[in-house]
Amino acid sequence: MSNQNKLIIVGAGGHGKVIADTAIKNGYTNISFVDDHAVGESMGFPIIGAVPEIEMLKDDQTDFVIGIGNNQTRKAIAERYDVRWVTLIHPSAQIATSVTLGQGTVVMAGAVINACATIGDHCIINTGAVVEHDNVIENYVHISPKAALGGSVCIGEQTHVGIGATVINHMAICGGCTIGAGAVVVKSIEQSGTYIGVPAQRKI
Ligand SMILES: CC(C)(COP(=O)(O)OP(=O)(O)OC[C@H]1O[C@@H](n2cnc3c(N)ncnc32)[C@H](O)[C@@H]1OP(=O)(O)O)[C@@H](O)C(=O)NCCC(=O)NCCS
Repeated sequence: MSNQNKLIIVGAGGHGKVIADTAIKNGYTNISFVDDHAVGESMGFPIIGAVPEIEMLKDDQTDFVIGIGNNQTRKAIAERYDVRWVTLIHPSAQIATSVTLGQGTVVMAGAVINACATIGDHCIINTGAVVEHDNVIENYVHISPKAALGGSVCIGEQTHVGIGATVINHMAICGGCTIGAGAVVVKSIEQSGTYIGVPAQRKI
């Protein structure tokens, strides 16, 4: 965190608000948003411009984080702007000491990340999610609230694991997948697509 405690959140919608709350609890006092579709304020913090204005707002005292849940959008923004992307962890999250977290990744309230898990850049480990030991989570992944990943699971880039979904231990899910809310993945997934149900099957 910079000395000035200055943070700009990209995206002032629901996910951005949750990040703002996490940022407050991390000691940030100077918080603002940029957003292409909203003006005014969000959570009492000002929306100071549209996303392209990041170029003018960036300096070496300002931290940035992306408050957008869509994995493709998050990737596009992260790759376009060379700024100080910070990693934010809610104080109630439980993260083992051997875990590595990439830049721009956010870990929300009550999430648990267990021993030797590796989390990539610009991931979302959302409220109450469980990421067990030895997981490998690639960049731009979203693990939704209350989703649970057993031990030694691998999740490929830009995959979204839906709310309350379960992935049993040792499964690998390739990039570009959506795992529907409440699905239970019991076989590895090698083809990008949407998978739903118990056990999870490709949605046609
Ligand atoms: C799986 C998912 C991506 C499908 O979205 P969609 O393509 O827009 O699908 P629809 O809503 O049009 O539903 C199509 C059918 O699939 C069913 N379906 C949708 N989601 C399902 C799910 N998670 N499990 C089982 N069936 C599901 C619908 O009931 C519908 O069935 P029908 O054709 O018999 O009526 C979506 O429903 C989902 O689960 N998204 C995850 C959301 C989430 O976790 N958000 C967290 C944000 S923090």
